[in-house]
Amino acid sequence: MNLEQIKHTVEFLKLKGILEPEIGIVLGTGLGNLATKIETNLVIDYEDIPNFPVSTVEMHKGKLIYGKIGGKQVLAMQGRFHYYEGYSMEETVFPIRVMKLLGITSLLISNAAGAINLAYKKGDLMLIKDHVNLFPANPLLGQNEPELGTRFPDMSEPYSLQLNDYLRTTAQEKEITLREGVYVTAQGPMLETPAEYRMLKIVGGDAVGMSTVPEVIAANHIGLRCCAVSVLTDECDPDNLKPVDIAEIIEVASKAELKLTDLFVGLIEKI
Ligand code: HPA
Repeated sequence: MNLEQIKHTVEFLKLKGILEPEIGIVLGTGLGNLATKIETNLVIDYEDIPNFPVSTVEMHKGKLIYGKIGGKQVLAMQGRFHYYEGYSMEETVFPIRVMKLLGITSLLISNAAGAINLAYKKGDLMLIKDHVNLFPANPLLGQNEPELGTRFPDMSEPYSLQLNDYLRTTAQEKEITLREGVYVTAQGPMLETPAEYRMLKIVGGDAVGMSTVPEVIAANHIGLRCCAVSVLTDECDPDNLKPVDIAEIIEVASKAELKLTDLFVGLIEKI
């Protein structure tokens, strides 16, 4: 466990002026629009942050944004580290631990995901109520660092019931349809075969994606309440599967992200 590195990065960011963040936000693929709602105090490229994993070409916009939304100090990650890019699980959650030690008390996560539940359509938003971790690893493997959290963290309420209630109320107020369901992970980067989509449904999934769960595990370990919303970008019907077009996935995400932005802004105002 790289506690010293985490603390060093925290000190660096404090010296830069990130002093009182309340809410951390992870913006998923194609979901950077929320950043435009931040009254920005400070933007730091990931590559300028010591110990941050080095970004890959795919993540050209890796930035930490500090500022205000609805009067609250937020710290947003524009771009996340995916396991399929070759980062270790520990690297993928490094920024979550840093944000917690900087002082955030809530974490809001977004992602793009495929709809396994065929009652849900592309462009829909889905509140993640629970998850099934199918990654071959997780960020807590290895020696535990008691300063961060306990050896055997409880996962009976992985997503904060309170934040989920705020999300539902905000969705109602803003007349945004908010589906709910279980998110299952796929290691990626390839998408799934028809047989794999069938399996993911049997396993209990309503949506599938390649991120989020490591971050949620690290958040629970470190005592950070969190919530997560998927933007459903494609419909995973094993009996009628069309080739996935990543450009289309990103386009669907970009269109739906206006709703996501509204939802998160409303949520932040309630926290
Ligand atoms: N599978 C895995 N991850 C995804 C998908 C999918 O169908 N769509 C968006 N992210």
